[in-house]
Amino acid sequence: MKLRVAVIYGGRTGEHEVSVRSARAILDGMDPARYEKIEYFIDQQGKWLPKPILPEPGAQPEIDVVFPVLHGTFGEDGTVQGLLELADLPYVGAGVLASSVSMDKEMMKRVCKERMLPVVDYVTVTRETAGIPEICSRLPFPMFVKPANLGSSVGISKAHDEKELEAAVALAGQFDRKIIVERGIAGRELEVSVLGNEAPVASLPCEILPSREFYDYEDKYLLDMAQTKVPADLPPEQTAELRRLAVECYRAVDCEGMARVDFLLEAASGKLYINEINTIPGFTSISMFPKMWEHSGIGFSALIDRLIELALDRHKRKKATRFTR
Ligand SMILES: Nc1ncnc2c1ncn2[C@@H]1O[C@H](COP(=O)(O)OP(=O)(O)O)[C@@H](O)[C@H]1O
Ligand SMILES: [Mg+2]
Repeated sequence: MKLRVAVIYGGRTGEHEVSVRSARAILDGMDPARYEKIEYFIDQQGKWLPKPILPEPGAQPEIDVVFPVLHGTFGEDGTVQGLLELADLPYVGAGVLASSVSMDKEMMKRVCKERMLPVVDYVTVTRETAGIPEICSRLPFPMFVKPANLGSSVGISKAHDEKELEAAVALAGQFDRKIIVERGIAGRELEVSVLGNEAPVASLPCEILPSREFYDYEDKYLLDMAQTKVPADLPPEQTAELRRLAVECYRAVDCEGMARVDFLLEAASGKLYINEINTIPGFTSISMFPKMWEHSGIGFSALIDRLIELALDRHKRKKATRFTR
């Protein structure tokens, strides 16, 4: 019997198009001999086509497992994961808490700091209370200004002076009430993929070489000019340290399934910083998450098999939990 997999994609998010491309790659990569695919598309307004998943257990007897391929808001942030928990459906990737903590760039840093994991200096403001002089007194230029809960570099700018900072805060404030301002790190960008539930494993790292001043939306998805190097050219000790930190960060946010952990390596100090963790990383045919696994010995189709296996395994383990007296 084929496993019936529901792939949810699109979504009410600035990363809608990316999700569509990721889902396309996943649907194409799923072994038709093993899986029956059911597509659930969510449009930009949040409408589900052909129909929504209902929150009641047993309401979807036609689905064995769900693969949410939604990036950013209303999908990678725990909201859809909450729906799938209510529906008692097994699903690929992080649970509710890990999804929402990882999505929020401030919460993720707080959780990492509690475990002594290296994150860059930052200041959190809200669009109502963004005091520019206060930020300037706490961080040196250049700064990176980001909406706290988004991805794909949407709403992110690099500010070199007070005037740019003001514009950057206004832009980020359009995408989230909460804004995070970080010390800009001059150096290299590295990424590591992690896979697993109880015993997560890290892939070989890769390096991103942006073609622009930083790895912005155009560079990620439109220009096709950014260079990538898999595996990253690093001394063995640094590769080992990156992989260790990636797994530590994964555990710190209580992640399951998969994630991509992104790092900044400061040129001047040689120091590694965890920049962010993505619980539904880009999954297009050219995305780094599947590429890193390919170089680490797990091909695209095998990766999908593994993720589905992890989803089913987690759901089975959860059955040991009592929800009533
Ligand atoms: N503190 C920082 N110092 C230097 N570059 C940064 C910093 N924060 C972000 N960047 C640049 O901006 C890009 C997008 O930021 P990131 O935090 O990864 O947001 P997103 O979730 O949108 O991918 C990074 O890939 C990197 O090029
Ligand atoms: Mg990023």
